[in-house]
Amino acid sequence: VRAAVFASGTGSNFQAMMETENLACEITLLVCDKPGASVLEKAKRFNVPTIVFDPNMYSTKEEYELEVLHVLKEAKIDWIFLAGYMRIVGPTLLQAYDGKMMNIHPSLLPQFPGKDAIGQAFRAGVETTGVTVHYIDEGIDTGPIIDQVEIKVHKNDTKESLQKRIQEVEHQLYPAVINDVLSKGVKS
Ligand code: GRF
Repeated sequence: VRAAVFASGTGSNFQAMMETENLACEITLLVCDKPGASVLEKAKRFNVPTIVFDPNMYSTKEEYELEVLHVLKEAKIDWIFLAGYMRIVGPTLLQAYDGKMMNIHPSLLPQFPGKDAIGQAFRAGVETTGVTVHYIDEGIDTGPIIDQVEIKVHKNDTKESLQKRIQEVEHQLYPAVINDVLSKGVKS
């Protein structure tokens, strides 16, 4: 099974997947929409080929998604894992990878979708937040939930300390869910 990771930023989840010894698929492509993002250095370190595109160079989402889709097909990619990919996926990719696209989000969805979910939870003063892995649909963090882990907010937490704990959970949960879904064909 061949998978592509889509990322826009740091790529710590990408790194966690690459460092998972028994991952049920091979990550053979990294797709990045931010020239200069540090995930690109990580891909180089792991010898994963990359495609980088700048959405500002295209007049529509369909235009760049068609180009990305072409590369995905050439590379025989079966699955797409979004990991800090800061764009809404459009119909072009959704139709081609229906049910074969997951995302990780740092909250207990449906609470706190969208940007800065950790900040949203922190400011709301919730006692419990968490991490969700879900399938992708046309909305923002609205697709069917595959798995969630709860994380307590401690009294003395800062946004940074909470974020650190959330990321540690993400790095365990995402590879585990990938393995579950790919081996058992789990679908919620
Ligand atoms: C993660 O917190 C993920 O849940 C969210 O974006 C962040 C990406 O972090 N969607 P990284 O680039 O994998 O370090």
